[in-house]
Amino acid sequence: MNPITVTIHDIARGGSGVARLESGEVVFVPFTAPGDVVSVNITEKTKSYSHAEILEIITPSKDRVEPLCPSFTKCGGCSWQHLPYSLQFEVKKKGVLQALKRAGVKTDAIEIDEMPAKNGYFYRNRIQLRGNPIDHSLGFYEKNSTKTFSIEDCKISRKEINDVLPQIRVEADKFTQPYKVEVEVSEDGKARWAWDKKNAAFGFRQVNDEQNIHLQNWVKANIGSADLLLDLFGGAGNLSRPLVSQFKEIHCVDTNVPSEKSIDLPETFTFYRASVVWWLQNAPKNTNFSSAVILDPPREGLSADFAQIEFAISQKFSPETIILVGCDADSFARDSFRFTQKGYTLTRMGVLDLFPQTPHVESLAVFKKSAIK
Ligand SMILES: C[S@@+](CC[C@H](N)C(=O)[O-])C[C@H]1O[C@@H](n2cnc3c(N)ncnc32)[C@H](O)[C@@H]1O
Repeated sequence: MNPITVTIHDIARGGSGVARLESGEVVFVPFTAPGDVVSVNITEKTKSYSHAEILEIITPSKDRVEPLCPSFTKCGGCSWQHLPYSLQFEVKKKGVLQALKRAGVKTDAIEIDEMPAKNGYFYRNRIQLRGNPIDHSLGFYEKNSTKTFSIEDCKISRKEINDVLPQIRVEADKFTQPYKVEVEVSEDGKARWAWDKKNAAFGFRQVNDEQNIHLQNWVKANIGSADLLLDLFGGAGNLSRPLVSQFKEIHCVDTNVPSEKSIDLPETFTFYRASVVWWLQNAPKNTNFSSAVILDPPREGLSADFAQIEFAISQKFSPETIILVGCDADSFARDSFRFTQKGYTLTRMGVLDLFPQTPHVESLAVFKKSAIK
């Protein structure tokens, strides 16, 4: 197909710049900024929109900023290093609100707490690298590919991670087959790494410690007071640990809880290694305590389990507050809508950025049981 020239007028929440052809057709172009005039090549066409790749930036947008990483556009990681951070956050917030609107959730009268990141670079506390002994590469996958390319350092990773990369490279000499290595800055500030583990070697952990504190504080400020707290999809208790003095009892449920409970946690805090649906179905009905619930599911949200989870929570615990945390705006919006259909009212929201330089965004919602069903 012949190259065409388009003007980018917006950024889609998926990350690409958006242009509209005279025919009305929408074209998504990655690595562009609003105001860019670009020559593009259409790579994929559907009935209502196309995807395209840049051939040339004819007139760059005045909003463009210099990416810090030399591998920007090659790496499958960041896609927004050319956009100023204020614009990145604006697109994220707009994206969450759009997804909610599309799902049927009204947000006009809702207070929204905005929590942009203070540091746009050098924030990640864990990364996963791939290595290939054939070409001695050690780095990340190229965008849309499983081909590894080498990196000197990663500009969104913590300094502690970048500092140990030379040592990891030396140790990696032992491999004769492609391998992976997970590198993490542990809570004592030291880097550790694990080779070729099937599942996440160090368990789940929010990747941005500085922003995670804002997440914890937001949950703390909005969970309200009750006797009992259920931290569902609670992992290592990241969101409920800071609440131990606020609740008489905390149940933290996750398929991947720590194998040992740390000594700083009181008797009133219990981990359950179980699926949330199974745990709720087997939990006795709570008649004596007031309760609150945190739900922080993986990307797909509560999906097909929503009905069972909502039913068991409402019937057995009648929580005064439910906090929903989502890392995918669409599944978060779908679950939010379903809560409103079940008689819960959305009373407050948060938009939190754990992933600067990428389109990912954390959406937060507080639901209260409505007076009238
Ligand atoms: C987004 S993480 C949240 C973890 C935790 N709230 C935090 O802030 O660190 C989602 C968690 O859901 C857990 N998970 C996924 N599917 C699950 C299921 N069906 N039942 C219980 N936990 C599940 C994962 O192990 C992971 O820890």
